[in-house]
Amino acid sequence: MTPLKHLFGIAELDRAQIEYLINLGDSFVELSRRPIKKAPTLRGKTVINLFFENSTRTRTSFEIAGKRLSADVINISAATSATKKGETLLDTAQTLAAMQPHALVIRHSIAGTCHFLADYLPGTAIINAGDGAHEHPTQILTDLLTLQHAIGGMEGRVMTIVGDISHSRVARSHMLAAQRMGYRVRLVAPKTLLPAQVERYGCEVFHDFDAAIPGSDVLYMLRVQTERLTSNCDFPSVREYHEAYGLNMRRLAAAGAEAVVMHPGPMNRGVEIATDVADSARSRILDQVEHGVAVRMAVLTALCGGGEE
Ligand code: NCD
Repeated sequence: MTPLKHLFGIAELDRAQIEYLINLGDSFVELSRRPIKKAPTLRGKTVINLFFENSTRTRTSFEIAGKRLSADVINISAATSATKKGETLLDTAQTLAAMQPHALVIRHSIAGTCHFLADYLPGTAIINAGDGAHEHPTQILTDLLTLQHAIGGMEGRVMTIVGDISHSRVARSHMLAAQRMGYRVRLVAPKTLLPAQVERYGCEVFHDFDAAIPGSDVLYMLRVQTERLTSNCDFPSVREYHEAYGLNMRRLAAAGAEAVVMHPGPMNRGVEIATDVADSARSRILDQVEHGVAVRMAVLTALCGGGEE
């Protein structure tokens, strides 16, 4: 397998690398369930989390992942960084890189931020924690590990992704992962929330949620990304959105008995997902969060050393 230098997106990974990271992640799940959650794997390594967008799960799980592997982890958020004083993103990143961290974990609202910075920071591993509507690779690795546990993997399976596809880096990264890992993606959205020419990815497109449900192994619900909407007329009202594109118990009952419900979080209860569905036994949403720590441990190990045999 080709060793990884950076993690920009699923686009740069092949199947062997994806499987390697999922399996390495799986080997870390148990560590987080022990009373003493610590391994020496990344002792002496420094990881900086640089977040220019809000985050609960991704930022915290990178921090916990690094700390459980004994790395020194530093968190910087846009609100407290010198970019607020007018410093450019590149100057901020080069300043941090001069402090010799092994990895920079970056979330930014602009697609391509990680690729851009990597050209200027040759000695630092760059990990994409979400760049605009482009990619979110660690979320997809997390989901695939969760699905390995929940339904034995995705080969030949159907994932139905519902909601704001056009602004979702999670949906886009899944479309790329599906091609590599042998699953099919159905996209369900109003026309206003679908990117142009999305069929190029080999996905089936539906505007009627009910028509897409039979045969789905995974119902993957997305948050409406209000912070990225450019108009307020992409859908008529929250009530109508929930009627047409929300997952409720009636729709869940129409899926096969084995089908599972996922959401990358944060959820808008009562909008894309009804509360009873989110809290039902079919929901794997909290498993996604748990596996997110394990997968980020795998990514940090693979990129900061200590992970290669
Ligand atoms: C997602 C993101 O930020 O792309 N959340 C996450 O990282 N778990 C999805 C979202 O914000 O809706």
